[in-house]
Amino acid sequence: MNHFLTLMDCTPEEIVDLLDVADQLKYENHHNIPHKHLDGCTLGMIFAKSSTRTRVSFEVGMYQLGGQALFLSSNDIQLGRGEPVRDTARVLSRYLDGIMIRTFKQSDVEELASYGSIPIINGLTDYCHPCQVLADLQTIREYKKSFKGLKLTFIGDGNNMANSLIVGSIKMGMQCAIACPKTHQPDEALMKWGFDQGLLTVTDNIEEAAAGADILYTDVWASMGQEAEAERRKKIFAGFQINSKVMEAANPDAMVLHCLPAHRGEEITDDVLESHADNIFDEAENRLHAQKAVMLTLMRK
Ligand code: CP
Ligand code: NVA
Repeated sequence: MNHFLTLMDCTPEEIVDLLDVADQLKYENHHNIPHKHLDGCTLGMIFAKSSTRTRVSFEVGMYQLGGQALFLSSNDIQLGRGEPVRDTARVLSRYLDGIMIRTFKQSDVEELASYGSIPIINGLTDYCHPCQVLADLQTIREYKKSFKGLKLTFIGDGNNMANSLIVGSIKMGMQCAIACPKTHQPDEALMKWGFDQGLLTVTDNIEEAAAGADILYTDVWASMGQEAEAERRKKIFAGFQINSKVMEAANPDAMVLHCLPAHRGEEITDDVLESHADNIFDEAENRLHAQKAVMLTLMRK
């Protein structure tokens, strides 16, 4: 593995290896065992969008691995003033040991990888959010012990999270159900891939998707960059919510995940979020461990 751009690029074995490294790093972190395997390395973190979890977990993770991280807001570097991605890639490759980038276009992340000479990590695009789903898989395996026979149901917008969840869950052998409005389905090519595996269903019937689910997942109705559409989206997605009725359709021991930030009363009710806070905040914590596994795997010399 040279980069971490989409989960589609990873084999199931590579994903399991990353999860095993993440579990080991979590153990070392919880037991105060030093693990400065990236001593002297520097990660550049380019952000064209806001972030709490991704920024802090990458920065702290790099510190814990013995390296350092530079926060590069795209407003403050020349990229934001039109310096081409391909030039930025070649310049930053001369200074840094790896780059994490959060931006709009997946093609910019791919261009960074093809022109740079250091590992590139996708910290979210409009298309996908592989780091989040790696942490989600770590969390699911912690709670359910294995992926075998599980059903993951995503309710909401067929967005970057839905796209990555389709790939991550199916590559781990889970069944994946997406409940979304017909007008806001996931990426067409990814749906086709999921259908071909025989492990994906896409419907606008929420109860049907939630029936027998072991993991219920949701995300905001308006993603970053869609703020102007937020009011209109509230109407489109009304009802695409994880609430007590949806929980009743799922398996009794179903876990609830949310990548966060959450909008209580929209995609999830306050009571469901709070009654599954252990799941959701363990998931947020696992961003740290899963991303340390990605950095270690890609950047260790
Ligand atoms: N889930 C997630 O990526 O959170 P941030 O936007 O806070 O990084
Ligand atoms: N779909 C959301 C995910 C945030 C982590 C967004 O892109 O804003």
